[in-house]
Amino acid sequence: MALKITVIGTGYLGATHAAAMAELGFEVLGLDVVPEKIEMLGRGEVPMFEPGLEDLLRKHVAGIEGSTGRLRFTMDWAEVAEFGDVHFVCVNTPQKHGEYACDMSYVDAAVESLAKHLSRPCLVVGKSTVPVGSADRLAARLLELAPGGAEVELAWNPEFLREGFAVQDTLHPDRIVVGVRSERAEKLLREVYATPVAAGSPFVVTDFPTAELVKTSANSFLATKISFINAMAEVCEAAGGDVAKLAEAIGHDDRIGKKFLRAGIGFGGGCLPKDIRAFMARAGELGADQALTFLREIDSINMRQRGQMVELAREALGGGPFLGKRVAVLGATFKPDSDDVRDSPALNVAGQIHLQGGQVTVYDPKGMTNARRLFPTLGYADTATEAVRGADVVLHLTEWREFRELDPRELGEVAATRLILDGRNALDPELWRGAGWTYRAMGRPTA
Ligand code: UDX
Repeated sequence: MALKITVIGTGYLGATHAAAMAELGFEVLGLDVVPEKIEMLGRGEVPMFEPGLEDLLRKHVAGIEGSTGRLRFTMDWAEVAEFGDVHFVCVNTPQKHGEYACDMSYVDAAVESLAKHLSRPCLVVGKSTVPVGSADRLAARLLELAPGGAEVELAWNPEFLREGFAVQDTLHPDRIVVGVRSERAEKLLREVYATPVAAGSPFVVTDFPTAELVKTSANSFLATKISFINAMAEVCEAAGGDVAKLAEAIGHDDRIGKKFLRAGIGFGGGCLPKDIRAFMARAGELGADQALTFLREIDSINMRQRGQMVELAREALGGGPFLGKRVAVLGATFKPDSDDVRDSPALNVAGQIHLQGGQVTVYDPKGMTNARRLFPTLGYADTATEAVRGADVVLHLTEWREFRELDPRELGEVAATRLILDGRNALDPELWRGAGWTYRAMGRPTA
């Protein structure tokens, strides 16, 4: 009999994981504690913008014409416990208010709510990003609460999906990491992931702490790479170099690699910033804080980029206050192909200029609703052209394809001044200069 799978928590991670499990051929039951989410997903609608996710859901959600019917949603813990052979815990672990540590209350609540109903053999698999040591603690909690006793086991299986590529990353992961304590647990997870493993995804088996650490260390490495190149951008600014050329040149060394070396206003989103902070907090608790003090520098280099973008804009406008200046902001999301504005560097820059008296108008292809909710006092326009109309300066802050495909000549007709600052080093300077614009990017004073 094919395994039956449940997915607890249906945010980015859970909704994608549930749909992907159905795509792999399993019967899947998703659970969330928010009724609106369950209703939407049950209609095959996704509460966020994620390319390909809605199509995949509609392909499998029961009750939708032509679907396989393999995917259903519920709010009933007992039903989930009764149904599943493997339960994936996919709830979020946000940063705690006023602290670096992450908030484990959703994970703890999910495991406790589920455990009480687990009376038959099953595997509970944590996917959330958690501080190292959590799996150990949760395994003990399961044993304490589950009526099924030792037949109810825990495993840890971190998730590495990127927003904007969530479906692709889940169906074709570049590695599958499982922290297990028994052969049975490993065997079950090999069964779950048989299709991607057969297609070549490496399957790495570890203990609990290593599995938890793989995730936080991978994100720390990525954050470090971005802050490294942004530090080089600062040096290039001071020395008159060109950070884009520099990144290209060092990237040819395949020990360094080309990816994640785009200088600009830095990283944001719901993962990298909070994950490196939670990692520092956890290392402190373990007495290993010295090992991670460098992450403090990574974080501060990153946060500094936002302020530097604001200063670049101020200088470009003549160096005075922003009062009365019209500033067009292209991009609100923390990265393209997402509607996520959590800790978005673009909105942070827009907000800073607005608070200093600038008249800021923002346009983003998908992030407008979320941006308006977070920063209701900023100006918003329905198109890039409308945002740029009458602007004294244009800031390119999220590298959407739509912005690379803008016609600088047409845009030049509506701008008050043809002045563009590229906060993502993603536009073609020649193209914009050719259309009469002054182009300036971070870390490229002479480019
Ligand atoms: C990240 C990890 O990549 C993923 O593996 C993990 O599971 C969750 O966190 P995500 O938050 O979707 O994924 O975004 P990512 O693509 O990593 O980008 C993070 C931020 O870094 C974005 O704000 C992006 O604009 C920025 N970035 C990325 C740069 O500034 N320069 C780069 O070269 C690359």
